[in-house]
Amino acid sequence: MMPVPQRPESVQGAFQVEAEGVVAVVRFDLPGEPVNTLSPEVGAEFDAVLRRLERDETVRAVVLLSGKPDGFIAGAKIDLVQGARSAVEGEALARTAQAGFDRLERFRKPVVAAIHGACLGGGLEWALACHWRIASDDPRTRLGVPEVQLGLIPGAGGTQRLPRLVGIAAALDLILTGRPVKARKALRLGLVDEVVPPPLLRAHAVARAHELATGVLRREHPAGLKKLRKDGLQALQQAALEENPFGRELLFRQALKQVRAKSRGHYPAPEKAIEAVRQGYEKGFERGLEREAQLFGELAVSPVAKRLMELFFAQSALKKDSGVDDPTVKPRPVRRVGVLGGGLMGAGIAYVTTGAGLTVRLREKDDAGVGRALAGVRGVLEERVRRRAMDRLERDAQLRLLTATTGWEGFAKVDLLVEAVFEDLALKQQMLRAFEAVNPTGIFASNTSSIPIGEIAKASEHPESVLGMHYFSPVHKMPLLEVIVTPHTAPQVTATAVAVGKKQGKTVIVVNDGPGFYTSRILAPYVNEAAQLLVEGARVEDVDGALTDFGFPVGPIMLLDEVGVDVGHKVAKVLHAAFGERMGSPEALSALLDQGRLGRKAGKGFYTYGGKVKEVDPAAYDVLPGGRSRRSFDRNQIAERVVLQLVNEAVRCLGEGILRSPRDGDVGAVFGLGFPPFLGGPFRHADTLGAPALLESLKRLRDRYGERFEPAPLLAEYARLGRSFYEGR
Ligand code: NAI
Repeated sequence: MMPVPQRPESVQGAFQVEAEGVVAVVRFDLPGEPVNTLSPEVGAEFDAVLRRLERDETVRAVVLLSGKPDGFIAGAKIDLVQGARSAVEGEALARTAQAGFDRLERFRKPVVAAIHGACLGGGLEWALACHWRIASDDPRTRLGVPEVQLGLIPGAGGTQRLPRLVGIAAALDLILTGRPVKARKALRLGLVDEVVPPPLLRAHAVARAHELATGVLRREHPAGLKKLRKDGLQALQQAALEENPFGRELLFRQALKQVRAKSRGHYPAPEKAIEAVRQGYEKGFERGLEREAQLFGELAVSPVAKRLMELFFAQSALKKDSGVDDPTVKPRPVRRVGVLGGGLMGAGIAYVTTGAGLTVRLREKDDAGVGRALAGVRGVLEERVRRRAMDRLERDAQLRLLTATTGWEGFAKVDLLVEAVFEDLALKQQMLRAFEAVNPTGIFASNTSSIPIGEIAKASEHPESVLGMHYFSPVHKMPLLEVIVTPHTAPQVTATAVAVGKKQGKTVIVVNDGPGFYTSRILAPYVNEAAQLLVEGARVEDVDGALTDFGFPVGPIMLLDEVGVDVGHKVAKVLHAAFGERMGSPEALSALLDQGRLGRKAGKGFYTYGGKVKEVDPAAYDVLPGGRSRRSFDRNQIAERVVLQLVNEAVRCLGEGILRSPRDGDVGAVFGLGFPPFLGGPFRHADTLGAPALLESLKRLRDRYGERFEPAPLLAEYARLGRSFYEGR
């Protein structure tokens, strides 16, 4: 049967209806937008479509699908939530969406959702209100409710329909982590009814809609009991537990305990999500919806959600940012990438580059190095296969993109080379010369963590082709890439590095060159202040505990152990030479190096390794003044000193033009260093504190602890002018 195209339904034209016999296929394709998002206007238009289909007697069933090639519905339009001026306004947004989905659920003719691509947030809640869900078996098809990552909860019925469909435990897992699942997992959970190959999706959905309409297939009432899809004893036990009020109470309590331990009181959304789910079980579906909308409204205007949404917008803006001001500059095509050094970083870079579908040629210094590098890449791939994030065929296909050698053959053809050999200027310059000798037109990017790119580029005949691409460890997990440009770097070279980084799935910030660039430069005084506290007699537990309580994922001392004391020592040397005392003294770390206390990789650092739990190693105190006799420090004071070092240095970077914008500074600190996302980053945090208050705190600390707390000149200026870093917000 041929589809009969009809005219768009409304002025906005987000929905097109095509008739396939008695089935109306409603195609959602938001004009002029790369992805489909939901808003009250879209909802109203869809309502009008539904009303018309309700009246149309030739229509007996509906299929809802997306007109976007690789996305179903990405979620609600976040600007709308961000724009809510009060909890009541936020609640009203949720109520409007809930009412729309309620009408959809009660629609008298069966509605089948045909899901291909991202089906997230409000998009999934929309699909949940449909009567049958079919997903395409495609890696791009992902279903989830990521609202908690923005400090929100699903507010369009998600906290009510999800648990009823897949069970409380699975629903809480989806809601509290915000992590999406792929089609097959969604099928196992009962989140979708069927999974089909992408080319069959539409035809299959139409056939199913037809069957549902003619009674060949029975649909269950959606607000009724959840469908039991899972097999086996465990699933039955789980179901029995959830049917029973005491069992449910146990589940909710466990979940609450877990989220409290994880959020340390900083992130309210997960607890509120549990409350909404629980309300639905204790007081019924309608009351559950009411509570969900109320809580959504409260959260929408909470400072935490504001900061998280701002970060989301910053990341989205960076996705569209070419990295250069001139819009006519286009990146060079890159097909082949070279990687020098296949250690911790080089192997990670080879992994993310082949993952982006690019061919990688890797060079190590000897055969053993080649073996280690290949094993490194394979290790990450195997882990993914084990976690079913990829299958063996995909693994093999990715491995085929990688070749390794100890010579320079094959490097004449690479478009871009990322250097990740030891942190040594002479060695890096030697690599640069050797590369230019075989490939005079290729781009040379260094992954150095502290050496100014301009220093390395001094060895170059083509400094316009030299820049920094600073990845973070572990490369396959850390979302940030810091691209560093010198005054000589050609804009096209910058745009090319940014485009490659995006292909690798990274959020890319572009910064100007200088010792430590941005991220290493703000990290050094932060770690130094932590070390300073140890020198003054503080306990490692107190210092690390103060910063994890503040919201960092690990404390600075444990971070030093993880990165390696030797690496920290090299970075401290470069930065100390450039900026002096506030970056820390390399000698302080020398004593640890002399003892072989390199951190985790050596099995000993500030902590002990090998046992089940990491514990502070008292022997590490022996190199510090005061030895093993330690005294108590106030954790708030510890956090203030250490965090303000970082914030002040970030402001210096902005003042000196290392950073293009506070936005880049916030994204760099949050996604590169783990600065607490709920604070939005060092610049948002500075704005929250206010420049005058921050200035006063720094002056107080300077008078007490010395010049390393001297406030950044830009901060003093902003305090005087009453300016904030994000003007107008
Ligand atoms: P690594 O020691 O694990 O790896 C360096 C690799 O380079 C070794 O496998 C070594 O065999 C190889 N290599 C040395 N000379 C070579 C040569 N002439 N030709 C080919 N290969 C050679 O060190 P890692 O941690 O991977 O660091 C590499 C670079 O990345 C350094 O510049 C470091 O500062 C930087 N970096 C490190 C980060 C970290 O967290 N470890 C983070 C960001 C940057």
